[in-house]
Amino acid sequence: MKRIAIAVAFALLVVCAGCGKKQTEQASAPQGKKKWIIGMSQCNLGEPWRVQMNEDIKQAASQHADEIEVIFKDAQNKTEVQQAQVREFIQMGVDLIIISPKEARPLTQPVAEAYQKGIPVIVLDRKVEGDQYTCFIGADNVKIGREAGKYLVKLLGGKGKVVELKGLMTSTPGQERHKGFMEGIAGSQIEIIFDADCQWLEPIAQREMQSALARFPQIDAVYAHNDPSAHGAYLAARQEGKGREKTIKFIGIDALPHEGVRYVKEGILTATFEYPTGGKEAIETALKILKGEQVPKNITLGTRIFTKENVDKGGEPL
Ligand code: FRU
Repeated sequence: MKRIAIAVAFALLVVCAGCGKKQTEQASAPQGKKKWIIGMSQCNLGEPWRVQMNEDIKQAASQHADEIEVIFKDAQNKTEVQQAQVREFIQMGVDLIIISPKEARPLTQPVAEAYQKGIPVIVLDRKVEGDQYTCFIGADNVKIGREAGKYLVKLLGGKGKVVELKGLMTSTPGQERHKGFMEGIAGSQIEIIFDADCQWLEPIAQREMQSALARFPQIDAVYAHNDPSAHGAYLAARQEGKGREKTIKFIGIDALPHEGVRYVKEGILTATFEYPTGGKEAIETALKILKGEQVPKNITLGTRIFTKENVDKGGEPL
C-alpha cells in the first residue's frame, strides 16, 4: 500500500514537473530561445487578393520575428491538398494553425481534428462549419452583399435587369454575398436574369458573361462576387463589340489598390466593396492565443465602398 502511494506521488511529481517545463518553455519563447511555429494553409495563390493576404501575414509576422515563425503552404485550389496540409501541420506539432479554406464542409473535419488535439486554429476569410475552431476572422459578407444590393437599387432607380456572377458556392463568401444581395434588392423591381457559379475566377466569369450577352439584349448591371469576375464580365462586353461595356454598370468586391480600386479610377467598375484580407489581424490574434490570452470566437472586419466620387478620398466606410 505504502509503495503504491509513493509510486503515485512520484508519478504526480513527474507530471507536474512536465507541466512546469511546458510553461517555462512557452514563457521563454519571447526571449528567442524557442519560437512559436505557425502553420498557414492558403487555399490558392492564383489570385492577387490571396497573394496580398500572405503578404499581410508576412509583414505582420516580421514585426514579431523573435517570437514567431510562419510556415506557408499553398493548396493550389485543391481541397484534398488543403485537407492534407492541415493534417501535416498536426503531425509536425505546430503551435497554431491559420487556414483560409477553399470550401466549408470538406475542411471542417481536419480543422476539428487539430482543434481537438489542442492546436489553436484561426479560420480566415472563408468559414468552416460548426464551432470546432478557436477564432474566425473576416468581414461580414452578408452585409457586403446587402450594401451592393442597396447600391444597385439606387443606381438603377429601383428597377433593372442584372447578371449575378457568383463566387464558388461551396465557400461561405459566395453563399453570403448572394444572400445579402437578395436582401438588399428585396422589394425593388430588380430582376436577376442570369447567374452562374464562376468559382471566383476571371476566365470563367468572362465565359459566362459571353453567354449572358448572347442571350439578353438588355443587361443593366453585373453584380460580381469579386473584382476579377467583374473585370472578366467587362472584357466580355468589350469583346462583343457593341459598346455595351459603356452602358452596363459593373459592381465588384475586394477593392485591392492595384485591382478593383484601379478599375474604379479607370471607369471600368462603377463600384467595388472592400474585402480586407485580415492577415494582420490573424497574426495579432495568433500572438494573443499563444500568450494564453482570451480572444473572441468571431472577429468581424469592416468594409468600405469605392466609387468614382469617393475613390480619391480612399472610399467611404459602411
Ligand atoms: C480570392 C477570393 C477573393 C474573394 C475571396 C473570398 O481567392 O476569391 O477575390 O473576395 O476569395 O473568399
